[in-house]
Amino acid sequence: MRKIVITSGKGGVGKTTVTALLGRKLASYGHRVVLVDGDVGLNNLDVVMGVENKVVYDVSDVLDGRCRLHQALVTDGDSGAMVLPSSSRKLDMSPQAFRGVVSSLHCDFVLIDCPAGIEEGFHRAVSSADEAIVVTTPSASAIRDANKVVSLLSTYKLKDVGLVVNRVRYDMVRRGEMLSSKEIGTLLHLGVVGAIPEDDHVTIFQQLGIGGEGSVSERCAEYLAQNIENCTQNLVEPYLRRRWWR
Ligand SMILES: Nc1ncnc2c1ncn2[C@@H]1O[C@H](COP(=O)(O)OP(=O)(O)O)[C@@H](O)[C@H]1O
Ligand SMILES: [Mg+2]
Repeated sequence: MRKIVITSGKGGVGKTTVTALLGRKLASYGHRVVLVDGDVGLNNLDVVMGVENKVVYDVSDVLDGRCRLHQALVTDGDSGAMVLPSSSRKLDMSPQAFRGVVSSLHCDFVLIDCPAGIEEGFHRAVSSADEAIVVTTPSASAIRDANKVVSLLSTYKLKDVGLVVNRVRYDMVRRGEMLSSKEIGTLLHLGVVGAIPEDDHVTIFQQLGIGGEGSVSERCAEYLAQNIENCTQNLVEPYLRRRWWR
């Protein structure tokens, strides 16, 4: 079982979006995937995955013995990915308790959606994982926060740390107005495992639960999922430049 935390430092850069895109793809390849909402208090992975109406129990019910772990898992009907919802109540959940729950999952991939910041919630999520994906947007402030997170991650025993650059505008990259994913990877000393462009389909899918098939973000999520599945770092950018942005 591979346990991967999706983290960033800065909020709003796309951790939850990347968790959902990657989780759906890996599940559609036939892997058993559990997406764990590590954001206690400001949990929203269930909403982004469109399963919020199916949630009966959450991780705090598991910890307090009100239900079994499998009873708290909700399945995304389309992809088959499962979601372990977080709690908006149990704010004092210890890293050990959270780690215990994550370790008792039976699946191929656990993706932990990390909260923003570098406080206790960050520690709880990162210490429950073996690998990390750092998400950043191409903005200078997001890259700076990602840099802080990369140094913090080096204090954990992680097997691998990869980078996903989100909200890339290839037209701007081409004009030299935005750093490319490769350049950002070099700045952060991380291998790029994925690049997701700015794409209205991301918002539309999250709002309405429809569309997205064949969209540029969906295609890029496929590259990301293949890189994660095969532990490779094939860069999507040259392909994108050729195909979609002229
Ligand atoms: N590639 C993208 N293209 C367009 N909108 C995006 C993209 N990635 C994220 N968003 C939007 O940005 C907002 C923040 O994303 P989210 O995944 O919730 O960030 P985080 O989990 O890091 O706080 C959401 O409204 C989401 O729909
Ligand atoms: Mg989030």
